[in-house]
Amino acid sequence: MTELTIEQHRILLDCAQTQGTPTYVYFEETIVRQINKLKKHLSGLPLQLLYAMKANHSVPVMQTMLREGLGIDAVSPAELVYALKIGFPVDRVLFSANNMTDGEMHYATERGVMLNVGELSRLEAFGQAYPGSDVCVRLNGQVGAGHHEHVITAGDKSKFGIPVEQVGDVHAIARKYDLTIVGLHQHIGSGIMDTKTLWQAISVILDASSSFENLRFINVGGGLGIAYRPDEQDLDMSSFDRLIVEPLKAFIDGHPSEGLAIWFEPGRFFTAQCGVLLAHVNTVKEGTTRTFAGTDSGMNHLVRPAMYGAYHHVLNLSNPEGPLNTYDVVGNICESSDFFAKDREVAQLREGDIIGVLDAGAYGMSMTTTYNMRSKPAEVWIDLAGEQRLVRPRRTVEEMVAQEMRQA
Ligand SMILES: Cc1ncc(COP(=O)(O)O)c(C=O)c1O
Repeated sequence: MTELTIEQHRILLDCAQTQGTPTYVYFEETIVRQINKLKKHLSGLPLQLLYAMKANHSVPVMQTMLREGLGIDAVSPAELVYALKIGFPVDRVLFSANNMTDGEMHYATERGVMLNVGELSRLEAFGQAYPGSDVCVRLNGQVGAGHHEHVITAGDKSKFGIPVEQVGDVHAIARKYDLTIVGLHQHIGSGIMDTKTLWQAISVILDASSSFENLRFINVGGGLGIAYRPDEQDLDMSSFDRLIVEPLKAFIDGHPSEGLAIWFEPGRFFTAQCGVLLAHVNTVKEGTTRTFAGTDSGMNHLVRPAMYGAYHHVLNLSNPEGPLNTYDVVGNICESSDFFAKDREVAQLREGDIIGVLDAGAYGMSMTTTYNMRSKPAEVWIDLAGEQRLVRPRRTVEEMVAQEMRQA
């Protein structure tokens, strides 16, 4: 998304005025649109959608997912308990903690939540502790993809999943402890626009599934990308239909076991476009070769540019008709990787202007830190009626300090 509607623009300026900055603003309408889009394309498949809550676990985001019938991909005990407290039924939560501890294994199992196991040693420990149980296994089909090498989660360099070459060991452990492998899982990476590669990965798992007799679901993961740049196209849904949905339907039709479901678990696809990070321009400074627009936010609030070199479109909300100038739009953190945009044309930025950093609804707030002892941003929810609600305030300086002093 590189443009806003007139109404979104108005709401954002209003939020900046009423709630101050830095503030994340989320539009419910966009989340519902994205969910419906995926549901429409996957209709006809026996389907369960999960939401990878690591993308954005703000309470109203989670409540929207629940209302829309989604389940949850949880990767830590706190994510798991939070999802259950929001109201997700246990049988719609899958626990995929990486390098799971015994404590985490017991924690999830005692609450009735199914484990998604990505290591043979954990499968063995689970079998010892809970013989005769059902479990899901995460496989690494050796096909990975993603918008940056840091987000590729399959292939020989990836720590995730049990290599598909070791399926024989999975069966041996399952036999030893009378475990029933009811689910197979994969997640190959994030920000994937290439449906061909996604299908290549899925087909490895589908092939591997032929040796599992009691499967209830195959979870093909998340990873669906969105367009961040003005010149980028959204995920090509007609090729998604042709290369992924149709073959999945054919697979299900030809599968002997009744009731086998396909699960997807996107994060970014559902929430990236719903979120805008509002920041205030504190300083405009002429360097020798560039103009810096310094804001009251930064990499502590949206780390994707620093971490992945990710592009986020930046709009000057308070001077949208200003002449285009070229800026480095930067934050207030003591790091030179602290930027939102480099060498970017933006409508003239003046001290006091409000910028909107777009498509910040996924891996934005959930990856924030309080580095430099700066508060996390506030969060504001815009419901389907266009009403705004503060769902999380910023911490005051006194609250930030008090929290640190309590730890002493
Ligand atoms: C296991 C798992 N599932 C799903 C996702 C969601 O990925 P995305 O936001 O790209 O859809 C992730 C993201 O890291 C993940 O680790």
